[in-house]
Amino acid sequence: MDVSERFLQTALDGIHDCINIVDKNFQIIFVNEAASKRAGKNWRSLLGNTCYAQLWGKNAPCENCVTRKAFETGKPQQTIKWEIGNDGKKHFMEHFVFPIVEKDDTVEYTVEIFRDITERKLLEEEREQQRLELGKRIRELRHAYEELKSLQNQLLQAEKMASVGLLASSLAHELDTPLATISGYCELLAEGIDDNHLLGHVKTISEQVTKCQKTTRSLLDFSRKSNGERKWCNIHHLISSILSLVEHRLILHKIKLHTLFDNQLPLLFVDGNQIQQVILNLVNNAVDAQPQGGDIFIETRMNHATKSVELLFEDNGVGIPHENRKHIFSPFFTTKDPGKGTGLGLSICKNIIIAHDGRITLENRNGNGTKFVISLPVSEAP
Ligand SMILES: Nc1ncnc2c1ncn2[C@@H]1O[C@H](COP(=O)(O)OP(=O)(O)OP(=O)(O)O)[C@@H](O)[C@H]1O
Ligand SMILES: [Mg+2]
Repeated sequence: MDVSERFLQTALDGIHDCINIVDKNFQIIFVNEAASKRAGKNWRSLLGNTCYAQLWGKNAPCENCVTRKAFETGKPQQTIKWEIGNDGKKHFMEHFVFPIVEKDDTVEYTVEIFRDITERKLLEEEREQQRLELGKRIRELRHAYEELKSLQNQLLQAEKMASVGLLASSLAHELDTPLATISGYCELLAEGIDDNHLLGHVKTISEQVTKCQKTTRSLLDFSRKSNGERKWCNIHHLISSILSLVEHRLILHKIKLHTLFDNQLPLLFVDGNQIQQVILNLVNNAVDAQPQGGDIFIETRMNHATKSVELLFEDNGVGIPHENRKHIFSPFFTTKDPGKGTGLGLSICKNIIIAHDGRITLENRNGNGTKFVISLPVSEAP
């Protein structure tokens, strides 16, 4: 080893990266201390031997060998490969190959540098893991925030509904007596009037007052919690008695009522008044949906599979357009002209049926019209 070679050897031995120089036959002609240490061999024994045999333990040049590529292309190469180190652990090695290009552009030797980048790689992986974790956390937080926002909206809505309820009950109490008084005086007035024209005016006042009473009472019902007074009831009696109240309305609107009752139905443990309120709401809606007259079908049947009594309400009316179907049970949703509907009917129905552990659903109807199905569980015991 001449002086310059010794200088080179000493200089490169001081570097932690593994460095070796190979010729075209992959024979090692120079190796620094770090490289011979990594191979676990004396540096002298490596010289003159092939790199693939001494450094990689193979008996032929490695597949995808970047050194060969550097010889072929005359261009520096770089790759990362992993190997099991002397410590038996997985090590990531960054492999650089620099061709030593002669004047005639041929490459006789390449300088190979291996750098152990395991720590950097692990750090990168850890950082990537942290980044993913952070991303996940951010997504979770965003989701929680969205949920919170929607809950807040629901809460606001609930608060609004509660204050509407309070307002409604006080309003109904305030208005009920004066409305009843006006209604009574209208009747008295009507008795004493012979002029048909004036009588018409009084009747209009009376009708409008009745409408106001209906609205305030339904608001009051909506805000009032069920007092939970339940009894064993015959559902057909409930239906028939409430229908008798609306008989005149059906005749007036040229609506024919068709009932199909299953007489084997068991008694239901329900709040009869509330169930009647549901029936009334559904019948009123069916009447409103058939301004030129039509038919209402009410059927009762037992569903043995779900152990429940089913009430079917169908009509031949205008039906409910697809885009309205998901809104009809929401409070204040109405398609009726201002003053004609409060939009509380179906939401009251739903509240009542849910309070009875039942279900009310809007079903598809063959042909025109609308079909609601109410299902009420048959109680074993009160
Ligand atoms: N049988 C039906 N046929 C067609 N549309 C219906 C029927 N029942 C309900 N709807 C639609 O659902 C809407 C909501 O009904 P809901 O009973 O809740 O309120 P409303 O009838 O408009 O007002 P209210 O019952 O308070 O007087 C109605 O405005 C109507 O558009
Ligand atoms: Mg209604």
